[in-house]
Amino acid sequence: MSKVHRIAVIAGDGIGMEVMPEGIKVMEAAGKRFGISFQWDEFDWSCERFQKAGRMMPEDGLDRIRSHDAIYLGAVGYPGVPDHVSLWGLLIPIRREFNQYANVRPVKLMPGVKSPLAGRTSKDIDMLIVRENTEGEYSTVGGLRDEGTETERAVQESVFTRKGVDRILRYAFEAAKHRRGHVTSATKSNGIAITMPYWDSRFAAFSAEYPDIKTAQYHIDILTAHFVRNPHYFDVVVGSNLFGDILSDLGPACAGTIAIAPSANINPEREFPSMFEPVHGSAPDIYGRKIANPIGQIWSGAMMLEHLGYPEAAAAVVKAIEQVLLEGPHNPDLGGRAATDEVGSAIAAAVK
Ligand code: NAI
Ligand code: MG
Repeated sequence: MSKVHRIAVIAGDGIGMEVMPEGIKVMEAAGKRFGISFQWDEFDWSCERFQKAGRMMPEDGLDRIRSHDAIYLGAVGYPGVPDHVSLWGLLIPIRREFNQYANVRPVKLMPGVKSPLAGRTSKDIDMLIVRENTEGEYSTVGGLRDEGTETERAVQESVFTRKGVDRILRYAFEAAKHRRGHVTSATKSNGIAITMPYWDSRFAAFSAEYPDIKTAQYHIDILTAHFVRNPHYFDVVVGSNLFGDILSDLGPACAGTIAIAPSANINPEREFPSMFEPVHGSAPDIYGRKIANPIGQIWSGAMMLEHLGYPEAAAAVVKAIEQVLLEGPHNPDLGGRAATDEVGSAIAAAVK
């Protein structure tokens, strides 16, 4: 009997609770076919818990999941709890404490899905967005001064360390080796005249170290325009925490719908568990109607299988997703009438 993989399950809020069972259903189907066993340990960490207990997760929360093989997350955030509270109370501590410095989002226009960009087909959009996930613009350095006076000011400092920049750039260059061999860097070294020239200098150093990888760099403003006008140009795209955040919503939007987009927060050294979650949030506007599209959750599960060392199982899940996207059933966001669990079951059946 093979090893049992212990997975920490945090369904979270809203539709996170509706799509998570479908993710587990498909992972179990893949497990049956490929001989992988899982133990799913569920944690109720969420905004609902915050409202009852005053914390998103217990004080020793991180210790409770530190030795799991992976974390499978739904979505976090709900009206009534400010978004910075839910984010800094759960997701950001997990990402930082567990050194999940690479936030990785494959962006693929799937067959059967219509891109909002006119005339684009599945040949045109296939990229990997690599976002720095632990430092950069999302810092806690700074403060408010002279509050309530005429000289009132807010200052927040970005932090770019050699270690932090180099490790994300290396991740991107290594990823490009297994793809089409092209890395684009997002920068803004004209306006942000200290940290971004530093980022550019490290990117140049890595370009020299990887002569077989082609490189390009664009300022973030024109880069967003190129995503829309020339998406076929991009293979791996690497950016700081803020730029990567923006691009990793824009990319999936160009590929049709964020509802199917997956993401992984990876600790490449495997000292800690990595976390797998759909790109979308808790969608309070549709929560409770059981029409949420579970594909983002399921595709994130495929990334988890890959990370755990099962590339064939991961590929089988992605293939099953492609089949159901082409043949149906479809949820309302893709023009169909199916419920969340009908799509999940169809994908599970296609995996078997
Ligand atoms: P959202 O992604 O929850 O929803 C945006 C729109 O897309 C909504 O109209 C929603 O109905 C639709 N949508 C999203 N996922 C869908 C799915 N699987 N199937 C069908 N339609 C789907 O983003 P929004 O509304 O900005 O945020 C809602 C809450 O989620 C906030 O509290 C926010 O902080 C949180 N959030 C959490 C994230 C996470 O857990 N990583 C990521 C993004 C937002
Ligand atoms: Mg985002």
